[in-house]
Amino acid sequence: MQLSIANEPIEKVSADALAVICFEAEENETQQAAHVGVAPKVSDPEVAGQSGWLAEMRLAGEFTGKLYETIVLHKPQRIAARRLVVIGGGKREKLSPVELRRAAGVLVRSLKPKGVHSIVLQLPEGADASAVQAVAEGAVLGAWEADKYKSDPKRERKHVDTFVLAVNGAPANHLNQALERGRVIAEAQNLTRDLVNEPANKLTPAALAEAAQKVAAEHGLEYKALDRDAMAELGMGALLGVARGSSNPPFLISLQYRPPQTMGRDHLALVGKGVTFDTGGISIKPSDGMEKMKYDMAGAAAVIGAMRAIAQLKPSIPVTGYAPLVENMVSGDAQRPGDIVTALSGKTIEVLNTDAEGRLILADALTYAKRNGATHLVDAATLTGAIGVALGHYNMGAFTNDEAFLQRLLAASRIAGEKAWQLPMDEEYKEYLKSAFADIPNIGGRYGGSITAAWFLREFADPTPWIHLDIASTAWLDEGKAWLSKGPSGVAVRSFVQLALDWTQSAGPAK
Ligand code: BES
Ligand code: ZN
Ligand code: ZN
Repeated sequence: MQLSIANEPIEKVSADALAVICFEAEENETQQAAHVGVAPKVSDPEVAGQSGWLAEMRLAGEFTGKLYETIVLHKPQRIAARRLVVIGGGKREKLSPVELRRAAGVLVRSLKPKGVHSIVLQLPEGADASAVQAVAEGAVLGAWEADKYKSDPKRERKHVDTFVLAVNGAPANHLNQALERGRVIAEAQNLTRDLVNEPANKLTPAALAEAAQKVAAEHGLEYKALDRDAMAELGMGALLGVARGSSNPPFLISLQYRPPQTMGRDHLALVGKGVTFDTGGISIKPSDGMEKMKYDMAGAAAVIGAMRAIAQLKPSIPVTGYAPLVENMVSGDAQRPGDIVTALSGKTIEVLNTDAEGRLILADALTYAKRNGATHLVDAATLTGAIGVALGHYNMGAFTNDEAFLQRLLAASRIAGEKAWQLPMDEEYKEYLKSAFADIPNIGGRYGGSITAAWFLREFADPTPWIHLDIASTAWLDEGKAWLSKGPSGVAVRSFVQLALDWTQSAGPAK
């Protein structure tokens, strides 16, 4: 999608649709809205005293200005665009980048089926760089569809390819930068969604490794991959135990970003769970809904997407993305419940349930990241069904061994427009993880399933500052939203990128 900031008067921009935002409970439409024909211009003597069509619609209750409500008018008189679109902005004082991001998505998604290829959106007065970035993101994210494997040729022709933002005053340089940043981040998030959308017969661990390698080659990241033999040599028994049941071989890949100038001694590692399909293994899952387990690599895909945006936006902290890639299958050689494996850290793990495989592969990946110099660890994983029971579909679960570090991530998430909610990590929960025969079991009891999973990871992350994001209930949308297609959401990408970009302000100089 082509994104730009309008450099001619809005009424002269030729496009398939020109959209303006009108608010809830406002007596008079804004100057901007009047200018494009939504309401009579005060300066026009011929219509002085008339209320105009939108006022009539408001009076009839057909338009209230509620968020994302839309009206589409053809052949408007005062403007060059083919259609005039009014979109509800809700309460003016509540309009933030979150709503603007969604409004842009709503415009793209609602106008696309009408054959609209180009949209101009007039931003409200006072729109700043964060508003511009959010709109750019919303437009690019809204355009994405989970339809790669649909062969209807009509869909092909219906896409919005141009989105222009009209901002009052001259297009300042920093607004153009914000636009570009929004495009880069949203395209990275769409790459993540493309990867998550791939079915497991197409996207094996090797195919996902190859996709990461391609990103590295295109964006100047260093790519490394450990294969089964290399991992066996190092002693990654936890990861390799999970991989045993599949004839698709496992990999542990990394993507390295090194800034032009390093400011401090910090080194951020992003670690993503990459189970390309999770049958549950011998502790097999019920067949109902098992097809969705192709998205069990959403953490790895988020890391790959984030690393692409990081390579383009160049934050000042070194960042390495790690993704352990395996398929959790059943076979005559699959890992059994009761098996005891030795992790890279040296800890022994009793595998009481082969379906709790994500924590096993992450244990070795976290240890590996630490050994390779990470001073701060953040993982994202579709780790537990229980996180959806606790938090529903709107918040990622957030866990940490370092409060201050988590606060920084939560601040970054807020700026990025993603939601995360902290869950407790009291020492008491650790008591749920007791094995009679090894150092640690891979499952706790019936209660606090997301927390025991996090505690398991923490046993391998400590003492390095670490955050775990459980994205099992947020990485996949069962139903589409007016601003986003159903299917993969690409969650965590924007938080990861924002965390890295903000690092310049918080990391101290080299010691
Ligand atoms: N991949 C699943 C978690 C999951 C569930 C992701 C639903 C997305 C949607 C994970 O590997 C798993 O199976 N976890 C088990 C853990 C249990 C065996 C302790 C679970 O959540 O049931
Ligand atoms: Zn599982
Ligand atoms: Zn899993």
